[in-house]
Amino acid sequence: MSPRLDEVTARLGGIAYGGDYNPEQWPEEIWAEDIALMREAGVNLVTVGVFSWGLLQPAPGRFEFGWLDRVLDRLHEGGIAVDLATATASPPPWFTTRHPEAALVDVTGARRSHGARQAYCPSSAAFREATVDMAGAMVERYADHPAVVLWHVSNEYANHNWHCYCDASAEAFRHWLEARYGTIDALNAAWGTAFWSQHYGDWREVLPPRAVSYHSFANPTQQLDWWRFSSGEHVRLYRAEHEVIAARATQPVTTNFMSFWKPLDYWDFADAVDLVSNDDYLIVDDRDPAERTAMAADLMRSLASGEPWLLMEHSTSAVNWQPRNRAKAPGELRRTSLQHLARGADGALFFQWRASRAGAEKFHSALVPHAGTDSRVWHEVVDFGADLRKLGAVTGSRVDRPRVAIVHGWESWWAGELDSHPSQDFSPFAQLRRWYGALWGRSVGVDFARPGASLDGYDLVVVPGQYLVDDAAARVITEFVAGGGTVVITWFSGIVDEHDHVRLGGYPGAFAELLGVRIEEFAPLLAGQSVGLSDGSTATLWSEHGRTTTATAVLTYADGPTAGSPALTVHGHGSGHAWYVGTELSDERFGRLVDDLLTAAGVEPVVAGLPRGVEAVRRVGGDGAWLFLVNHTGDEVSVAADGTEVFTGRQVDGALALPAGGAAVVHSTR
Ligand code: GAL
Repeated sequence: MSPRLDEVTARLGGIAYGGDYNPEQWPEEIWAEDIALMREAGVNLVTVGVFSWGLLQPAPGRFEFGWLDRVLDRLHEGGIAVDLATATASPPPWFTTRHPEAALVDVTGARRSHGARQAYCPSSAAFREATVDMAGAMVERYADHPAVVLWHVSNEYANHNWHCYCDASAEAFRHWLEARYGTIDALNAAWGTAFWSQHYGDWREVLPPRAVSYHSFANPTQQLDWWRFSSGEHVRLYRAEHEVIAARATQPVTTNFMSFWKPLDYWDFADAVDLVSNDDYLIVDDRDPAERTAMAADLMRSLASGEPWLLMEHSTSAVNWQPRNRAKAPGELRRTSLQHLARGADGALFFQWRASRAGAEKFHSALVPHAGTDSRVWHEVVDFGADLRKLGAVTGSRVDRPRVAIVHGWESWWAGELDSHPSQDFSPFAQLRRWYGALWGRSVGVDFARPGASLDGYDLVVVPGQYLVDDAAARVITEFVAGGGTVVITWFSGIVDEHDHVRLGGYPGAFAELLGVRIEEFAPLLAGQSVGLSDGSTATLWSEHGRTTTATAVLTYADGPTAGSPALTVHGHGSGHAWYVGTELSDERFGRLVDDLLTAAGVEPVVAGLPRGVEAVRRVGGDGAWLFLVNHTGDEVSVAADGTEVFTGRQVDGALALPAGGAAVVHSTR
């Protein structure tokens, strides 16, 4: 990825503010009002055309660009820049009617119909060709349009069609496997096909992991390769359009990611885009939605290698797709936007500009609600736009480099959550979330690290539930510790290699020597069961039979069948330390471990003494520093700070009173 967001923000003259604009859903008379209102709100960037394929190309070979010409011209006259979509997010019904073979096929072999969106097979040659045609027509017409500052390829790849099991996909899968393994023997070895009589004699016999016999399990490596292949197919589809646009246009090209979206390996995808952009929606049933939002934002910054990125979509208030769609409370729009900006976003865009009257998203909030401008949401939109104009100098600055990294790999996520494992309670994502949540609650900055990427510059590295680890990634972690780093590795990590083959000789194979432990047997706990530990605390989900080899046991199991085996260990390696957490510690014991590790690694919070739920993140650039403070709690807090509060212009000397639900940015010179 070459980070090119600065080209966009330079043309906007500050932080991007706006959202998806779907004027095709409205009569033209409304457009003038739209632009006037955008100006009133300080909107400077809108995404146009995401779902316009059917109108722009109403029939094969026939394009109707007139209405889009008028939209772009008007926006430009109004001083609003455009993130122009290639319109290929959803094929029109004529396409699927002409190419029934390009429709999505599910795991049971049933073909899905058009009528919603993303009704296509990611491996369909006809679909790829049609998208390249469409993108080509768009770029030919609009590459030189003065409103266009960014290209938006498709939309949220793999949101509704992550895996397609059709025959064309099967064929593409075989080619992919051939390229990966070279010979059918190598595939047999990697997939362990000596098991259950799965030996393949010819590539033509190889299939996607379609629905298998009842109460059985498809080959795990076949499943893992299927996740790898399918993720790659979406990236390939993206790249085809990206190339067409980049060959003709000078503006950067991107597509919008979806936070922690399991089907797509965003480390790979990030290599393909000119800038990272993301869609992030508040999950109201989440145990801590604000923590989850922060985590997504930190992932995006990590994908962007620490450079600024763009928040392409979030919501002003309720969405329409959760079981119960809570409206955001007053001030929540501002808080959630500022969370992203604090963590490196140089823009806050929303879905969508004007709430639809028809269609499946008519009850989704927007910048202009159904109620019109005489509404709380609209007033908040206008006020926040004014706030953002005061924050323009932040663009291009970077979040102060975190000292803690959490290793997160999609391959390990895929493999770790396959069936036929010791316990269904193992969830790599839950492990990651637990560590992130603890660090977030302590105001400690966190990056996510791609497995195998350099860990230089970090003091503490967390390896949460990384079940699959290849040799190269294991080596990076071992060398990090040898060089003086502190690493903490949690249960069921380092168990298998890249083929999902168990590393023999004692668990956790990839890390047994580094950790100085040798685990002989897993002893997962049953639902509701807990086990006592040597300090009187209890643990759940998992326990193990084993011993330390060279490590020191900090905690052992005190009762049950694993009594005496190590549950928490530390081992000096080189000039660093490697910790092993072999079970799911209680919240209280876990919290103490996190505190101890931070102290041992010398990691400081961004601001000390803040209660959980009050975020503090510093961005630095040029000779300035901006301390972002976001208070999700119901209490006012006093925060140590010095400088000028950007929104109010007030001087802050030593402490700032941050009201309940409030947010502030304190600027200082460095
Ligand atoms: C995103 C999508 C938008 C809209 C929005 C609703 O998934 O990109 O088109 O559907 O969600 O929250």
